Amino acid sequence: KKLLLIDVDCGTDDAQAIMMAIAVPNVEILGITCVGGNTPLDNVCKNVLRVIQVCNRSDIPVFRGASKPVLGEAIHASYFHGVDGLGDVPDSKAPGLDHMQKEHAVDALIRIVSEHPGQVSMVATGPLTNLALAVRMDPNFPKKLKSLHIMGGNMESRGNTTACGEFNFLADPEGAFIVLNEFACPTYIATWEHSCRHKLSWEWYDQWVNKGTKKSDFIKRIYAHSLQYSRSEKEGKALVAGPGFVPCDSYAMAAAIDESTVTDFIECGVTVEICGKFTRGMMVLDLIDDLKKKHKARVMTGCDMGKFIALLEASIQ
Ligand code: BDR
Repeated sequence: KKLLLIDVDCGTDDAQAIMMAIAVPNVEILGITCVGGNTPLDNVCKNVLRVIQVCNRSDIPVFRGASKPVLGEAIHASYFHGVDGLGDVPDSKAPGLDHMQKEHAVDALIRIVSEHPGQVSMVATGPLTNLALAVRMDPNFPKKLKSLHIMGGNMESRGNTTACGEFNFLADPEGAFIVLNEFACPTYIATWEHSCRHKLSWEWYDQWVNKGTKKSDFIKRIYAHSLQYSRSEKEGKALVAGPGFVPCDSYAMAAAIDESTVTDFIECGVTVEICGKFTRGMMVLDLIDDLKKKHKARVMTGCDMGKFIALLEASIQ
């Protein structure tokens, strides 16, 4: 079995990515850790509990992590994901926070990875705060991971929250800096541009959410709020190469589940701008090896869309 740990700031596309992992029979999710991001931390925790309930997988342990970035104040994306982070379509039967594990997310990450050295793939689809804290508490944490799969950053300085800032890196630039500079396991990054370049048509989306299963209904309901934005002209202009459905976090998740979904990547030193007035949070690709970083990351550029779509289809069955 493939062992996964998933760190999320559970908004709509994180929910989708969790459902993708749950649907794959040879994947074992050892835990889901929560970090403040798309929505405040309490909402993130409640949303994860709700997603695993919809999938009949309430046995997966869920851990509460950092509510704020390493430095400064949290930012959220309620304009897109809704005030509750899942499109503001509450479910009165959703589990309460008493279903969370007592152990802190960062302790859980360190413990679980130590129990399975070299075997766990870590998927991070939110700000990288929990991972940065884990490496500070246990400097050997990254070496014990099999691989790390990040959704975040940008490769051509294209932002989605500020001109040059992609949401996850902008929400905790210092956290991203620590992770990108100190992680020594194979690291794959699904950037904003990569996600946009592998978007799905709205026609495909409409048939996907109308399959009439419990899971497709859930996806349809939680995404309805964000679609008002993402199907708008404004979002169309912000996207690379026109409009479409962009399930960002699922590109990182798919790569962790099946490495062959990644058909091409740029391997280079990667860091993040933490000082710039206009560029804070922007990912930096060191294509001329100026920084002489020993550890190179794989910035994903190609995706096998057939395999990716098959994983999306399976996730709502
Ligand atoms: C990322 O930011 C969030 O809004 C999404 O969940 C995704 O992780 C895209 O920039």
